[in-house]
Amino acid sequence: MASTLKETFQNEFLIGSCVNTWQLEGVKIFKKAKPLIKKEFASITMENQMKPDKLLKEETKNCEIKTDVIIDTELLDRILSEAKSMGLLLRGHTLVWHGQTPKWFFREDYKEDGKLVDRETMSKRMENYIRAVIEYCDTYDGIVYAWDVVNEAIHDDGNPRDEKTSDWFGIYGDTSYINEAFFYARKYAKKDVSLFYNDYDEYNPEKRDGIYKKVKELYEEGNCDGVGMQSHYDMDYPSVDLIKEAIEKFNSIAPGKIQIQLTEMDMHNNSNDEKDQKLMAKRYKEIFQMLLDEKRNNHVNITCVTVWGVSDNVSWLSGFRKEKSYPLFFDENYKEKLVCKELKSLE
Ligand code: GLA
Repeated sequence: MASTLKETFQNEFLIGSCVNTWQLEGVKIFKKAKPLIKKEFASITMENQMKPDKLLKEETKNCEIKTDVIIDTELLDRILSEAKSMGLLLRGHTLVWHGQTPKWFFREDYKEDGKLVDRETMSKRMENYIRAVIEYCDTYDGIVYAWDVVNEAIHDDGNPRDEKTSDWFGIYGDTSYINEAFFYARKYAKKDVSLFYNDYDEYNPEKRDGIYKKVKELYEEGNCDGVGMQSHYDMDYPSVDLIKEAIEKFNSIAPGKIQIQLTEMDMHNNSNDEKDQKLMAKRYKEIFQMLLDEKRNNHVNITCVTVWGVSDNVSWLSGFRKEKSYPLFFDENYKEKLVCKELKSLE
């Protein structure tokens, strides 16, 4: 039996966790998180700190040319230097998203209450932002190995998210902003960096088919390398079969070549009782066993599985579900939970 998660899956895929700088830097109450992340995980994703609202500096608004951007390179330095010194690879999350992007970024003169800009202006802003972030990250050679280029652009019914919830769509009037984002990401990313389309509820057939259609197009344009399946699960949904069907559907775009990553895996569980934690461990184990089978028997190119949080005390689910959640692999004292032990027993 392997002693760490990283060892358990080392021949199959990277195992990752979502983190924040306070855990990477091991500050105060997060002291114990740092050695745990280093020991158990091979890949990290910043929970919020590489989203546009964190990287786009307010000073951008004062730029003379209203398509120039100023990004927070100090924050990137903190993230990238910790990743480097801890021997971790980093998934960049996320470049183009309707959420957690400042309102002014989409508006005339970078004004909060301005009108939406025209497509040509937005395209320049997009290119400048993507170039600035990717090129800066590349000054730390080999740390960022993947980007979620576009996040959550498809609705539950499989249709594109439209102008009601996305200013990107509002400005372009169609989904060509997605193609453009991938075009620019490909243009500026190094050859060995993989580009992903990332979304949630990706296992639901209608949404899955909508994602499939768009990613197929992007893949055929040569600008997308894979699908990020967020994988926010419940205790009784989705079934392992439904997850497997989605994996196989995405894999069919280019069998064995297109990459599949589970990018934000967690399982809402409002009970920390032994019985419920046992059920959760069993379900996680079945999912991981299915992933190993897909990789080994069906040659699906699964390259990373990331858990959305290190320990139960930091899961976003407790806030989102408005009840305490115990969905992760380590408890609030950073002790490994039953699920972690079960996963380490996988061969
Ligand atoms: C989505 C986003 C993530 C994160 C989660 C909630 O899945 O992709 O970045 O915001 O919601 O933590």
